Amino acid sequence: MKLDGKVAIVTGGAQGIGRAIAEGLAAEGARIVIADLERAEEAAADFPDGVGLTVDVSSEQDTARMAEETAARCGRIDLLVNNAGLYASLAMRPFTEIPAEEWRRVMDVNVLSMFLACRAVVPIMRQGGGGKIVNISSGTPFRGVPFLLHYVTSKGAIVALTRALAKEVGRDNVLVNCVAPGFTMSAGVEAHPEVIEQLRDVSIAARTIQRDQLPQDIVGAVVFLCGSESDFVTGQTIVIDGGQYFH
Ligand code: NAI
Repeated sequence: MKLDGKVAIVTGGAQGIGRAIAEGLAAEGARIVIADLERAEEAAADFPDGVGLTVDVSSEQDTARMAEETAARCGRIDLLVNNAGLYASLAMRPFTEIPAEEWRRVMDVNVLSMFLACRAVVPIMRQGGGGKIVNISSGTPFRGVPFLLHYVTSKGAIVALTRALAKEVGRDNVLVNCVAPGFTMSAGVEAHPEVIEQLRDVSIAARTIQRDQLPQDIVGAVVFLCGSESDFVTGQTIVIDGGQYFH
């Protein structure tokens, strides 16, 4: 299998897109560490030798502990999928109505988290001879989607973070790439009928491939970016949205 012997941390891996990614990496032989605010251990129990860590990715302490505990329990870290993020729970509204506190929380959970996780994990990857990081952005910054200004800004920042970090750590054989999904029927989205009402049909109509996007649709690209077939690919963003936006 492509990822035999690899240790993979998936943040926000207890449900939704992160869960599907964890299953895809496990199917290729990776040992899975689920780092999530909720139900981490419960989710990890579904994977062979799975490790569940209760982690708030926006916390400096928690992300440091995530890296330390993974290294201690699994011996190494080869793969980091920065997937945890706030999305469907955010109300769509004019930017003039977004409270500054909500803006800060979105930046903390969606962007600061990736900086903190990478800062904690990259030194351990370096010790192991290298590694691969995949950051989950979104198609929204490419399309300039309105009424979610904090979210769209945070997802654009992830593309920038990916590029600059890739340049910085490439010489250590740490590769950093990004995946940008379109509107996906994840557990988080399913829990918000008002979001489905607003976005499902318009998203399908705007696609080249006119059907629902499912968490499984994102898995193949992430497995590719985690495996040896992408060993000369870094700093890139793959938009996976059924051909809604051509990047
Ligand atoms: P979801 O809501 O189904 O799952 C998110 C997971 O992240 C949950 O298990 C949650 O407990 C965890 N999480 C949230 N805050 C956390 C924190 N502070 N620390 C640790 N874990 C935390 O979400 P979904 O829809 O699967 O999204 C996953 C990622 O994909 C997010 O970054 C989202 O922005 C991105 N995305 C989602 C799209 C969609 O339409 N569903 C489209 C494009 C990107």
